Amino acid sequence: MDPALERAKTAAARRAVEDVRPGERLALGTGSTAAEAVRALAARFPGVSFDCVASSTATEELARSLGIVVRGLRADDRFDRMIDGADEVDDELNLTKGGGGALLREKLLAEHSAEVIILVDPTKLVRHLGERAPIPVEVVPFARASLERAIARDGFSVHARRRDDGRPYLTDNGNEILDLVPATPLHDPVKTLTSLRARTGVVEVGLFLGLADRVLIGFPDGHVEERRRRPGPTAH
Ligand code: A5P
Repeated sequence: MDPALERAKTAAARRAVEDVRPGERLALGTGSTAAEAVRALAARFPGVSFDCVASSTATEELARSLGIVVRGLRADDRFDRMIDGADEVDDELNLTKGGGGALLREKLLAEHSAEVIILVDPTKLVRHLGERAPIPVEVVPFARASLERAIARDGFSVHARRRDDGRPYLTDNGNEILDLVPATPLHDPVKTLTSLRARTGVVEVGLFLGLADRVLIGFPDGHVEERRRRPGPTAH
């Protein structure tokens, strides 16, 4: 990874764990920036226990390797905070997520969190979602081929995600991912989210609308800028 971006992610991750208190209920995100946050948490609180649920097996394994106990999701779970990354952040703090394939569990945990904190480097900031990253859509494998065609007819360029060996990429939930490139960046992400979600076979869409409470933007020189969401309607 670019060392400047790495410094930016580390800066955001360290800032995110500054507010964490021992014993908090934490939802852990997925991806390289969320992984930095897990490392920062372990470094800041050696031997301290937290009540953690992870959004992916990758994060779970990382956390456990650092001595952080992780458990499964319970019916009555409510997290004090979720710390996660994103692929894109717009001016309203709407997000594109799922580049790491964990969008379903990330959205679920975000919906169960009192505060959702998103860590990014400045390259993730966009005016409109869909500008720099594709929109990941988790789909059941049986429906993948028909959804590919139907969504392409809606004007998206559709790419079924594959592993390095060419086989279909599978999420932790055993589903596949379609990465959608819109013809133009999204001017109405609520409409896009609603129409994609309505399709049979779509499990979840990597548009996180109104879910982020705070975005911490780390910069390579180590400083961090914070943006807070203005209260308003949420579409998820
Ligand atoms: C994981 O599924 C994603 O939502 C990640 O949060 C997103 O892809 C950001 O990942 P990086 O921090 O690695 O850029």
